[in-house]
Amino acid sequence: MANPSCTYVIFGATGNLSQVKLMPALYHLEQAGKLPEGTRIVAVGRRPWDQEKCVAEVRRWVAEKARGGLDEAVFHRFAQRLHYFRGDITEAEVYPAMARLIDENDAFPDNVAFYLAIRPAEFGVVTDNLNGAGLLDEERGWRRVVVEKPFGYDLESAQVLQRRLARNLREDQIYRIDHYLGKGTVQNVLVFRFANLLMEPLWNRNYVDHVQITHSETYGVGSRAAFYDGAGALRDMIQSHLLQLLTLVAMEPPVSMEAESLRDEKVKVLKSVRPIPHSAVHAHSFRAQYAAGNIDGQAMPGYLQEDNVPSDSVTETYAALKVYIDNWRWRGVPFYLRTGKRMAEKQSIISICFRHPPLQLFRGTQVERMKQNWIVLGIQPQESMRIEMTVKEPGLEMRTRHTSLEAGLRGEGETENDAYEELLLDVIDGDRSLFLRYDEVEAAWQVVDPVLRVWATERDYIPTYPAGSWGPDESSRLFEKEGQFWRHGLDPRCCGE
Ligand code: BG6
Repeated sequence: MANPSCTYVIFGATGNLSQVKLMPALYHLEQAGKLPEGTRIVAVGRRPWDQEKCVAEVRRWVAEKARGGLDEAVFHRFAQRLHYFRGDITEAEVYPAMARLIDENDAFPDNVAFYLAIRPAEFGVVTDNLNGAGLLDEERGWRRVVVEKPFGYDLESAQVLQRRLARNLREDQIYRIDHYLGKGTVQNVLVFRFANLLMEPLWNRNYVDHVQITHSETYGVGSRAAFYDGAGALRDMIQSHLLQLLTLVAMEPPVSMEAESLRDEKVKVLKSVRPIPHSAVHAHSFRAQYAAGNIDGQAMPGYLQEDNVPSDSVTETYAALKVYIDNWRWRGVPFYLRTGKRMAEKQSIISICFRHPPLQLFRGTQVERMKQNWIVLGIQPQESMRIEMTVKEPGLEMRTRHTSLEAGLRGEGETENDAYEELLLDVIDGDRSLFLRYDEVEAAWQVVDPVLRVWATERDYIPTYPAGSWGPDESSRLFEKEGQFWRHGLDPRCCGE
């Protein structure tokens, strides 16, 4: 069945997200023939652009990201859909004009998705204004609002924001984005677990020693200091993306893949995370900030030297967190989450470390203490799956070595779609399974809130790590037992083994 056509209204269309993600994603959907016929894109911005200037700018952004280079014929089709709408979105007078454009003009479909790629502080006023102008009425077609992260700054502000949104919108009209869920390899965690029987018997506290979820980046804060310095790595990455990955690794099989069933199971995981008491915050968390260093032979400035970062900032660019999930499947198994900017490599991986066999049977032979089995799921940049096992070395003696079964998840010629392509399409389809329900967001804030509260009171000092490193060694103090170490990459040789 063809998708219903819709009008995509992008607030913040001249901003960074629109430039690097949204417009290129919409262009790629055009190229793939996925945008329903009649779909229009209304680009809302404050800048004094006209239609021609808007098309020229979007063309430049898209050209930078277009897979295989810009296809002029595709861009021509795409540009026909584009309409620049100039206005200050905080002013109520702008909205009746928007309503006239959409509701009184047959060229703009009645199903409308409003994408809020704007500062979170503006979410409330924009939805109030949309409602005030009747733009959220669903008489002629559906109306949906896509909200970018961060959803709030902490538990309390998330609750306030939710109350404000709920004045104007039903829960099923709100699409809270966590773009990690749009990544193919992230969805693959569910397929790996629930489309195969092989792993299920092992996927629990009886066999799993611990789980690590790492997201590291080589880039620094870039031009985002104004936002980032007030947020830090725990809010920016762990509260959202990494806790979402944790839910997918730890959840029970859902009743179906339907959105509510899936989200019910994710919420259960987050609600089962053992609250971190004030007195245990230091044992469960670690933060640090990058200092000057080198990446690929290039000198990199420290965080404090970056543009717009206050010289006395103690905002963390590295955060690590240990959590326990108190349910039947996972009780006692530590989950270590870790993220950092300006680290040695760009890498997102989920590593499952299995327990030692109950008996070291090969004692008395040449075999030293056997290594543990690992399953490593590469999310990016390598999309792969690796299972590590011990095997006998060829030869007359009983010696063993570690080997791995490794599978790349993308065949040659298979396209890599950006997460936003999938998510933008899901909004049109009304599929909310990859968007966050409010109770999920709230439960995720509940996990990190105790840590944020303690860190907020400790503003005098923050440990540092050189840019281009794997973060401070001191963060290993989170490990609950000897023999556990940070797994940095797919290949075990790069780890602290
Ligand atoms: C964003 C964070 O949500 O995710 C950024 O705000 C981070 O700080 C980015 O760099 C990472 O996403 P990706 O898709 O580049 O891994």
